Amino acid sequence: MDFKIERLNMDHQDKVVELVTSTYTKSEVFRAGTTMSVSSDLFTELDTARAKAKLEQGLSVGIFHEKNGLVAVTLNVIRLKSNNSSYQETSAVYEDTHWTNCTVRIVEQLRSIMETKLDPQKAFLMSMTSVHPDFRRIGLSKQLALKCEELATEEGCDYIISMVSSAYNLQGLLKLGYSIAGQIDLRTYYDDVAGTKPYSACAAPDYYFTLCYKAL
Ligand SMILES: CC(C)(COP(=O)(O)OP(=O)(O)OC[C@H]1O[C@@H](n2cnc3c(N)ncnc32)[C@H](O)[C@@H]1OP(=O)(O)O)[C@@H](O)C(=O)NCCC(=O)NCCS
Repeated sequence: MDFKIERLNMDHQDKVVELVTSTYTKSEVFRAGTTMSVSSDLFTELDTARAKAKLEQGLSVGIFHEKNGLVAVTLNVIRLKSNNSSYQETSAVYEDTHWTNCTVRIVEQLRSIMETKLDPQKAFLMSMTSVHPDFRRIGLSKQLALKCEELATEEGCDYIISMVSSAYNLQGLLKLGYSIAGQIDLRTYYDDVAGTKPYSACAAPDYYFTLCYKAL
């Protein structure tokens, strides 16, 4: 067996950041859009903060290749619905780093759809799925998603959820029985605070930012 799937912990942080930073290149829609002026160092800082916030919950998973080490990850958190019906989240992470305001706002917009349409008490959020380019199209992201489903069920979650900017990632999740709860067309999305269409230059096939979910 060449591959082993494992829960990740804080000791994996450096390897996770290395993989995510190299995989989420500047062609990823949110990076290519509003963050073009951001240097690679700042991307690393952003990915480090996001990875740390997720690894701390102990629900992230990775796939290790016997020779190449960590080749695929999905970083996860559980969100609990709070009394005022908003979700505990890692927004502070974004504020403390250099994620652009436009991106924070579009994430918030999709999140509000989640609150109105899904209403889970406990949602398992899958994010930052990254597969090393040499190991794509052999089912690794699918294996990760199935493992996440198992973890989410063990944790008593109502839903497993993902906000995806990659059409390939979405296609994979739809094949696993996910449904679309909300979708924003990035070509026409207008950010009324900035007064711009920050993602209008997004390239095929990644035209949509999509909230998808599966009830557990
Ligand atoms: C998107 C990504 C995670 C897919 O990982 P992967 O391990 O190659 O995906 P899998 O092999 O498990 O494929 C699962 C399904 O996804 C879809 N898919 C994945 N890559 C695809 C591609 N290049 N073209 C078309 N469909 C694709 C297919 O439906 C596939 O099922 P199939 O092989 O039976 O047709 C990977 O390409 C990646 O890391 N991309 C860069 C980072 C990124 O965009 N992450 C997601 C951000 S939301």
